[in-house]
Amino acid sequence: MAQVTLRKLVKTYDETPAVRGIDLDIADKEFIVLVGPSGCGKSTTLRMIAGLEEITGGEIAIGGDVVNDVPPKDRDIAMVFQNYALYPHMSVFENMSFGLRLKKVPKDEIRRRVDDAARILDITELLQRKPKQLSGGQRQRVAMGRAIVRDPKVFLFDEPLSNLDAKLRVQMRTEIKKVHQKVRTTTVYVTHDQVEAMTLADRVVVMNGGIIEQVGAPNDLYHAPQTKFVAGFIGSPAMNFIPCKLEEAAGALRARVSDTISFPVPANRTARYKPHAGKESLLIGLRPEHIREEPRHLEPDQHVFEVGLEVTEPMGMETLVYFNIEGTEICGRVNPNAGAVDGGKMRLIADLNNLHLIDDSTGKVL
Ligand SMILES: Nc1ncnc2c1ncn2[C@@H]1O[C@H](COP(=O)(O)OP(=O)(O)OP(=O)(O)O)[C@@H](O)[C@H]1O
Ligand SMILES: [Mg+2]
Repeated sequence: MAQVTLRKLVKTYDETPAVRGIDLDIADKEFIVLVGPSGCGKSTTLRMIAGLEEITGGEIAIGGDVVNDVPPKDRDIAMVFQNYALYPHMSVFENMSFGLRLKKVPKDEIRRRVDDAARILDITELLQRKPKQLSGGQRQRVAMGRAIVRDPKVFLFDEPLSNLDAKLRVQMRTEIKKVHQKVRTTTVYVTHDQVEAMTLADRVVVMNGGIIEQVGAPNDLYHAPQTKFVAGFIGSPAMNFIPCKLEEAAGALRARVSDTISFPVPANRTARYKPHAGKESLLIGLRPEHIREEPRHLEPDQHVFEVGLEVTEPMGMETLVYFNIEGTEICGRVNPNAGAVDGGKMRLIADLNNLHLIDDSTGKVL
């Protein structure tokens, strides 16, 4: 097992920069997820760690040793891809043990390692089957088994679940988490699915356009995004961004979003936000779950406002409500019994403790 360090890592494909100088310290035993939109450089970063892609600049170290010039087979890493590429003519046992046989590991040692991995993955019953006799999820497990038996310093996963149907993805997600809790191998996992990222990671790395926007524990990214991009990328439905003006009156601040609606800024934010009063490019960021039906008793920093609902979407455990402030569509999440109807009026609260103030000209959360 090992830590992985990226220093000023750059990859340029004939002039086009894919990765623009990223720094990242991955701790021993850590589960790191790289997440971001298509083309942001996730796979390129992973492939550079694996040694499958030459690096244009910077440094990669595994277990403290710089591996820039070490070929993939000598990096002691195991990679699991989206198409897990099992050998069709080999049994599960042979697929899992193939790498060890190439390395001339003794037979009884191979047997022991495959049996251990099969037990962890719950595929002991399948060892004699051929890949075509397996379900998608079982094949995925064999691909992971093949990585586990090698007992590498680092696991690298590139969208390993994207070939599976939605239900199996959720199941395998839990499986991968359990496996990591057992084997504790340092893992770098790539996905474009923010739910997968949040549920699996010790720390999530949000990438965008070849740079790292933010690194943090899932709840830190959710509650304290540092940029508009991260605020909008993490969470579903996405955070609402509402243009506002910060107004100062009697030492307090209000964020005005329309002629009739202005939200009082919590007192503990006044000092931080005051320098931005009067700026033109400000947005309020408020997640749908922080816009709810008016409760019987208001908590501090909850502010009531009335809107006309345009559309309501019953989801079972909650209803999403959509309304419009000055041309901006806004989503809230209310109790299914709160009486939300299409075209109806509704009194809502904004939970202003969870408010973010964003400067849209810099993309920074203030
Ligand atoms: N072999 C290549 N030659 C030229 N450009 C490439 C090559 N591989 C990737 N790129 C470009 O580098 C950028 C990053 O690609 P990368 O595969 O790392 O994205 P990604 O984040 O994994 O996206 P996805 O979620 O779609 O898999 C993209 O703009 C892509 O077009
Ligand atoms: Mg990719």
